[in-house]
Order: sequence, then C-alpha cells, then structure tokens
Amino acid sequence: MALRNIRINDDPILRMVSRPVETVDRRTQILIEDMFETMYDAGGVGLAAVQVGVLKRVIVIDTGEEGEKLVLINPEILKTDGVQTGEEGCLSFPGKAGIVTRPDIVTVKAMDEKGNWYTKTGKDLLARAFCHEIDHLNGDLYIDKVQKWVER
Ligand code: NI
Repeated sequence: MALRNIRINDDPILRMVSRPVETVDRRTQILIEDMFETMYDAGGVGLAAVQVGVLKRVIVIDTGEEGEKLVLINPEILKTDGVQTGEEGCLSFPGKAGIVTRPDIVTVKAMDEKGNWYTKTGKDLLARAFCHEIDHLNGDLYIDKVQKWVER
C-alpha cells in the first residue's frame, strides 16, 4: 500500500468526469487499498479516485459506523428521500467547511472490490457521503453547493 497525493483547490482534474471501470482487476484493487490508506491518513470519511488523480469511477467511504466501510465502483443513485442540512467538508479543500443541503436517505447500487454488485441504503452522514463522492465522479464539487461557509 502507498499514500497517494491528494489533488486540491483549483487543480483542474477535480472538474473532470471520471470513466466507468470496465474490469475490476488487481490494478483497481491496489488503487482501492491506496485510497483507503490515503483517506485514513488525511482523516477523511470518503475519497473519490479523481482526488488522487485517477479518472475512474471508484469511491471509498468509511463513516466509522459498523458496516459503513465501503467500496463503490461505478455507483448509481437509485433513490433518495428526505432532506438534511449540515456541515460538509472535502479533503480536496483543506481548512474549509460549509453548510450543504442533501437528501437524508440515499440508496445506491455499486460494485465492491471483487466486482460484485450490491445495493446499500445510507442515512445521515452516509447518505451525505454517497452524494458528495458521486458528485466528484461527475466533476461536481461541494463548494458550489455551499449555502453558508463555516469557520474552522
Ligand atoms: Ni470531497
């Protein structure tokens, strides 16, 4: 495993659209291992591959809750419900946080690190993480959705 360099601020890659993964191979698995290591090292709860400079539709999430250490390859949002408004940050924008409104319950379909499809419903922080990280795959950044910046 290795730490990867997190792309930050106005790095143009953060605005680019990531490509679907065609085969979940050893290379993908190494990417995933490195992404977890990089995310934990930086103290985040989610990371998209584009944030380490790889334009593939791969996300890792660990909210710290039981069963919420997740790999999402080629994820799709199937259903959303409710609304939550709360503080959000991003490892690509260090030292910043802002208030963002997101759905409160989000169901996604994705592949895991073995290439098996699954569906998962997240509430609260996990729902927020699903939306934030899937936005990254489309080049969308939370800084454009902030209603109010928060002092940190
Ligand atoms: Ni982010």
